[in-house]
Amino acid sequence: MIIEIPDILSTEQIAHARRRLESADWEDGKKTAGHQAVQTKNNQQLPTQHPVAKEVGQLILSALSSNPLFLTAALPKEILPPMFNLYTGNESFGTHVDNAIRTLPDGRRIRTDLSCTLFFAEPDEYEGGELIIEDTYGSKEVKLPAGHLILYPSTSLHQVTPVTKGARLCSFFWIQSMVRSDEQRSLLFDLDISIQRLAQAGPDNQAVNDSTVQLTGVYHNLLRQWAEM
Ligand code: NI
Repeated sequence: MIIEIPDILSTEQIAHARRRLESADWEDGKKTAGHQAVQTKNNQQLPTQHPVAKEVGQLILSALSSNPLFLTAALPKEILPPMFNLYTGNESFGTHVDNAIRTLPDGRRIRTDLSCTLFFAEPDEYEGGELIIEDTYGSKEVKLPAGHLILYPSTSLHQVTPVTKGARLCSFFWIQSMVRSDEQRSLLFDLDISIQRLAQAGPDNQAVNDSTVQLTGVYHNLLRQWAEM
């Protein structure tokens, strides 16, 4: 399941974050690339421990924790601290799959179930730089407005096409979900969205109300079966 989540950050938050990010010292993205990715990764990155990365990362994590669409789609158990990358002058990242295991700052390891990219530049500020995600149904080309986020299964092959003009500034990070299977998570997401729709339609209709209660029970009982804590 690939889901776009709009307006994670406001225009003001984006403007503030960009001023901070643009003042920081960026380094070669190859430093954190794995054995296979080092050959295809060609971009700039902000070190995770950089004060600006920490500051803007906190802003993102706090926005995510109160975003209902993100929470219902990702069912997050752990979120890695957001990282940042910058592509200019023909930089790109060839087709790869993200590492399965990553380490949290406290040393615990998490499994990457979901990958996220949050855009900080508007699509018309740069040429190229599409995130291409290979899905079971074909490939999807993603280039979102600033402040919007794309959530996709970390099992997907993906790439960033060369940025031929301007600069593409994004945050990226990984999530271990309470529900490991993308298929089960998608079913829960569809059920949750339908229940919310029914709940809004329901107030005066007893049958709709009863169904909403019953389906909410089904949702929680599936989550009880599938969630890992
Ligand atoms: Ni990647």
